[in-house]
Amino acid sequence: MPVPREMFLSNVWRDGIFKDKVLFCTGGAGTICSMQVRAFVALGGNACITGRNPEKTEKGAADIASVRAGAKVIGIVADVRDMVAMEAAAERCATELGSLDFAIAGAAGNFLAPMSQLSSNAFKTVMEIDTLGSFHTAKAVLPYLVQSVQKHKNSGKEEPTGTGGRIIFISASFHFRGQPLQAHVMAAKAAVDQISSSVAMEYGPHGITSNVITPGPISGTEGMERLSTADARSVKESKAKIPVGRWGEVKEIADATVFLFSDAGSYVNGVVLVVDGGAWRTTGADMGSTWKYPDFFFSGAAVEGVKGGKKSKL
Ligand code: COA
Repeated sequence: MPVPREMFLSNVWRDGIFKDKVLFCTGGAGTICSMQVRAFVALGGNACITGRNPEKTEKGAADIASVRAGAKVIGIVADVRDMVAMEAAAERCATELGSLDFAIAGAAGNFLAPMSQLSSNAFKTVMEIDTLGSFHTAKAVLPYLVQSVQKHKNSGKEEPTGTGGRIIFISASFHFRGQPLQAHVMAAKAAVDQISSSVAMEYGPHGITSNVITPGPISGTEGMERLSTADARSVKESKAKIPVGRWGEVKEIADATVFLFSDAGSYVNGVVLVVDGGAWRTTGADMGSTWKYPDFFFSGAAVEGVKGGKKSKL
């Protein structure tokens, strides 16, 4: 289905900045990743997306390709848990599209479960999809990224052939402070962050950059849809707890992606770019006290009635 450009890209990027470049994205038919790829393709690139579900992957690829006349987007059925399949997917991408210049390790699995109901296999499954899958993706694409950055140097100056040799890992912020029902995902994503750090350190000398994007609560994603169908009050409360007062848009993750892949992001390496409106910083902000986030900050009141708080004048 055609998606209006303003839904997946801000109007600040120059058309053609990814002309003839190729992006490889695992889990590329998903809500967030498909918009990251769509933005890249709209700005001149071609892409390969991988997924486990053949119909979803092929349909996703065709849909993304419709964003720009002449765009090539290939859907490849491959499970990120299978190293051989990932190597074959990367090779097919580079062969059929002529190069593999950028990568997004986006495939992930998630469900809500308390540890008491989390089997060893359930924990292992998410670790294998998120962590091992990200490692496999990096291993499969890095030889091509090295070739790309040899052609498109990371010199700090605007190169005539543009950028190349960059990878982004999609993570989460659950593990920054901790979140119940997410033991498996917290462990998996903490490890993903460190895989990115290792790539940044070990492949940075080639000119490659490796960064993490951590999406916050984003409208239209599975998790947020689940909350929306629960009840309107939870939605309102969830938005109120985010410093900017709203959920994010998929476009805001796509914009962060374009930034890191573009010349503007050339010196950004080994960071975790949290795109969440400041949400993770206010997790648990109320702490059961008499003041409520964010209402308290609009009230002008002092913290009263707690030890160490201002004494009431009454
Ligand atoms: N609560 C507890 N355990 C669960 C669960 C839940 N909601 N969902 C799955 N599991 C367990 C299964 O019971 C199984 O463990 P068991 O063998 O001890 O019974 C284990 O997880 C593996 O499940 P299975 O369905 O065989 O794995 P899969 O590879 O087909 O699916 C998942 C992977 C579990 C991550 C599945 O949720 C999935 O495919 N998700 C993809 C979509 C998604 O997560 N999108 C969000 C992206 S952020």
